[in-house]
Amino acid sequence: MISKRKSIHGQWSSRWAFILAATGSAVGLGNIWRFPYVTGENGGGAFVLMYLLCVFCVGIPIMIAEIMIGRRGRQSPINTMRTLAEEEGHHRAWSLLGWMGVVAGFLILSFYSVVAGWTLFYIAKSGFSGFERMTDEEIGILFEGLLTDPGLLMLLHTLFMAITTLVVSLGVRSGLERAVKYLMPSLFILLLIMVGYAMSTPGFIEGFNYLLWPDFSKLSAGSVLAALGQAFFSLSLGMGAIMVYGSYLSHTTSIARTSVSIALADTLVAMLAGLAIFPLVFSSGLEPGAGPGLIFVSLPIAFGQMPFGHFIGTVFFILLLFAAWTSSISLLEPAVAWLVENRNMRRNRAAILAGVIAWLLGIGSALSFNLWSDYKLFGLTYFDVMDKLTSNILLPLGGLFVAIFAAWIMRRESSREELALKSMRSYQVWLVLVRYIAPVGVILIFLQAIGLIGL
Ligand code: PHE
Repeated sequence: MISKRKSIHGQWSSRWAFILAATGSAVGLGNIWRFPYVTGENGGGAFVLMYLLCVFCVGIPIMIAEIMIGRRGRQSPINTMRTLAEEEGHHRAWSLLGWMGVVAGFLILSFYSVVAGWTLFYIAKSGFSGFERMTDEEIGILFEGLLTDPGLLMLLHTLFMAITTLVVSLGVRSGLERAVKYLMPSLFILLLIMVGYAMSTPGFIEGFNYLLWPDFSKLSAGSVLAALGQAFFSLSLGMGAIMVYGSYLSHTTSIARTSVSIALADTLVAMLAGLAIFPLVFSSGLEPGAGPGLIFVSLPIAFGQMPFGHFIGTVFFILLLFAAWTSSISLLEPAVAWLVENRNMRRNRAAILAGVIAWLLGIGSALSFNLWSDYKLFGLTYFDVMDKLTSNILLPLGGLFVAIFAAWIMRRESSREELALKSMRSYQVWLVLVRYIAPVGVILIFLQAIGLIGL
């Protein structure tokens, strides 16, 4: 049973290739842009603690489950869910989980591309003139100016979507391995340099404490849900991205060990980003809860002041762009794999079609900072609705169903065979986490966020 199925889209060349691709998917704007800004909006340390709990107790078991399902089904998440459900004697409607993931992927990519476009702008700005001669105020105005220019935002959004579509149309494997192999370690080193610089600034202690010292009085009703959402977003869980990458994974690879490494790397990058950014925020008297612009204001101020800031700043934004790129292609892949499988489309056509859909959806995000800034739903702009709806609702919901499927629908023989864990104890730990802890955790967090229970 194990080796019967093959993916028509090909397979990773090695365990390393998969680790690199999955880490490329996980590490992105979620770690460097979203983690600091959401942490700032939710008051710091206590939120970070909740986030770490969510990563370890909910995220990792669900990541193992998602990769396992993907590898067993070896197709796009929609078809994988249908095939496995039927194989386990259940209803094919489980394919709806795959559909929900495809929708979530489009919605995420739509605003992700707009933010990735900002990094393009900062690469150009940093490369051509740098930030040395600008005051803190001017740097703030620069960001405001970017947001209020719909034409520029649309141009950048279009450029980013075009490069994403290009890579997906070539096939996710070609080029990706090489790019991630060098760029991820470089990004990591640059983050270390940034943390080093942050240590020399007057705000370091304050920033350090803000990030790591839990003050539970600052935890609002929605913070725990935000922490859960951030964990799912950052680990690329709950929408089929990791599942579709798992479907290209060879049978000899240990899913559990690999998942733990990916999650650890992802978390480390987020924590480093936090350590680099909060000291800068406090040193320059910025507001930690300033929202999505947090890193685009605090980092340029630092690049303007630090030695070799011109060079480091440019390289940093280039690496951030690559990190965003390797994530965005994984957002498109589940939809493209489905179009190739079910609509008999050539990969490049499928990629263009999917890219255009995400691009169209992204127009609202680009305009929500300017022309459409007054159109709000529950007080949130289009951009905020997309960001919160996907991270805080769709991804945890997707993850919940992945956990239920892996632990309650799949037979134990199937999951045990697919995971091939040497020790029975590890399998049982995973099973308890994915059967009880993860689903109950997600449900409780949902319930407390809608005010039905107090936590
Ligand atoms: N994990 C990516 C990041 O942190 C974003 C992402 C979310 C990618 C969901 C795929 C699926 O930037």
